[in-house]
Amino acid sequence: MKPLRVALLGCGVVGTEVVRLLNEQAADLAARVGTPLELVGIAVRRPDRVREGVDRALLTTDAEALVTRDDVDIVIEVIGGIEPARSLILAAMKTGKSVITANKALLAEDGATLFAAAREYSVDLYYEASVAGAIPLLRPLRESLVGDHVHRVLGIVNGTTNYILDQMDTQGAGFNEALEEAQALGYAEADPTADVEGFDAAAKAAILAQLAFHTPVTAADVHREGITEVTSADVAGAKEMDSVVKLLAICERVPEENGRNGRGVSVRVYPAMIPRSHPLASVREAYNAVFVEAESAGSLMFYGAGAGGAPTASAVLGDLVAVARNVVAGTTGPVEVTYAELPVLPMGET
Ligand code: HSE
Repeated sequence: MKPLRVALLGCGVVGTEVVRLLNEQAADLAARVGTPLELVGIAVRRPDRVREGVDRALLTTDAEALVTRDDVDIVIEVIGGIEPARSLILAAMKTGKSVITANKALLAEDGATLFAAAREYSVDLYYEASVAGAIPLLRPLRESLVGDHVHRVLGIVNGTTNYILDQMDTQGAGFNEALEEAQALGYAEADPTADVEGFDAAAKAAILAQLAFHTPVTAADVHREGITEVTSADVAGAKEMDSVVKLLAICERVPEENGRNGRGVSVRVYPAMIPRSHPLASVREAYNAVFVEAESAGSLMFYGAGAGGAPTASAVLGDLVAVARNVVAGTTGPVEVTYAELPVLPMGET
């Protein structure tokens, strides 16, 4: 069978790891898919930058030409941000390519447009890497729990802020010092404001809420507070009370007297003090942990590396194999349908 040809958009911390894994695991991936996966081009803004293990001959600055090439089957987008990522993904889908993306900001702002395009052009859109790094969380919500009734999704979904708060708690580190370490370790967004002001966690919360409750939720619907106001004194004060400060994302149905869907949904991100005995208190460094509470399944906990090149690339590769298998089989996977149209309630009403 002929190889499946893959184009990569972006070659930063995550993209470089994707290239490494594609090379190192080529034989295993080919066996799992049933045909080789061939990386045919990598679109970057700065081709002169040194990227270890990346064949410079594959680099191009013409991303649009790459995604619309006739011989490309699958596009992986790890550029991040709204534009040009959205236009490139839509151009790829329009020309029949399935897409894998790690782009939480785009999915949380305009996921509906991407899902509609995936349906219209009968292609896949997989995005496990967009929330909680390596942790398989979206696939369980999209597939395993889709027959259940989810009441609540709650947890830590930003590795950078968890790293900062953990360093402040356990090492007595200052905020800026801890942020610099998180950046050096490859956890932070290109603009770390997205992490520390809670935008990244809010985008992830919107994606989780939409999947869990089958209702449209965008980042703008999420009540958001970051950790920039959290001081060393706050962290020390929490410690004295045998507690820790964590940035939590909470998505829940707001109950009503009668009826299953609830009065609406509430989606919020804010720093909270939690007792050291709570399982979320032991989530250290850049790890993430998410609880899902569903009617029949009960309470489930998902835990693992939430940020960083290799963990995020693991999620991308998982999606790549799933999408490639679909391409080989001439089918597509699930595409989100929102039908519940539940109002997203403001903080005061929950
Ligand atoms: N900056 C993000 C985080 C990367 O710290 O969680 C993973 O989405």
